Amino acid sequence: MNIEKVIAIDGPSGSGKSTMAKKLAKQLNIVFIDTGSMFRTLSIVLDRLSLKNSSDDQIESALKKINIEYMPNPKTLISVDGEDFTLAIREHHVSELASIYSQKIPVRNFLLQFQRELAQSRVCVMEGRDIGTVVFPNSFCKIFVTASSQVRAQRRLEQLAEKNPNENYNLAKIKEDVEARDKMDMEREVAPLKQAEDAILLDTSDMNEEEVLTFLIKTSHEKAKAAGIPL
Ligand code: DC
Repeated sequence: MNIEKVIAIDGPSGSGKSTMAKKLAKQLNIVFIDTGSMFRTLSIVLDRLSLKNSSDDQIESALKKINIEYMPNPKTLISVDGEDFTLAIREHHVSELASIYSQKIPVRNFLLQFQRELAQSRVCVMEGRDIGTVVFPNSFCKIFVTASSQVRAQRRLEQLAEKNPNENYNLAKIKEDVEARDKMDMEREVAPLKQAEDAILLDTSDMNEEEVLTFLIKTSHEKAKAAGIPL
């Protein structure tokens, strides 16, 4: 078995995995790869071409024509055909689009290839939903980050309130949305969200950021040592 040099961080939305995976990569001085940003970008590109209800063949041929680049320069997280999508992918409606397009088989195959190529030559932290199960099933370090839906809804509410302080948000409604999205992510046919058998479960419900980061660093070092990977 060929051990893959990827720290795979998976988990549901709102678990805090993005923030923490980014900090982990910074601490370890290795590249951070946010795969959600790729699904978000492709969903905008494909939606502009009105491909929501198109066949897999049509989507596949559209994907063949595009040139996607991850971190093409220090200011750009992600671009397609030279267009910078770094900010556009964070708009609220893009989450919905991404959850639709991320279920399309050609989109998943395309990004599977892309993600494997990106991580080929270096140790990195890659964050998503299926990194430890599908993209890098032999990665040396897999961590499944989660938190209760109540805690994730509360965190989401705080993020939204920070962005729009004048808006009134309803925690119960946000919790419902969080649970609906989990269900969709876990029940989809292709690459569903699930903990890999050999992944370490990290429930961050009662942990602060510092505790989470300490755990991630310690686990990464232990796993790297066991696999003989310099970190
Ligand atoms: O993590 P995020 O919210 O940026 O992800 C956006 C969407 O992409 C979300 O609907 C889940 C999906 N996704 C996925 O299916 N597989 C991944 N590896 C990463 C994200």
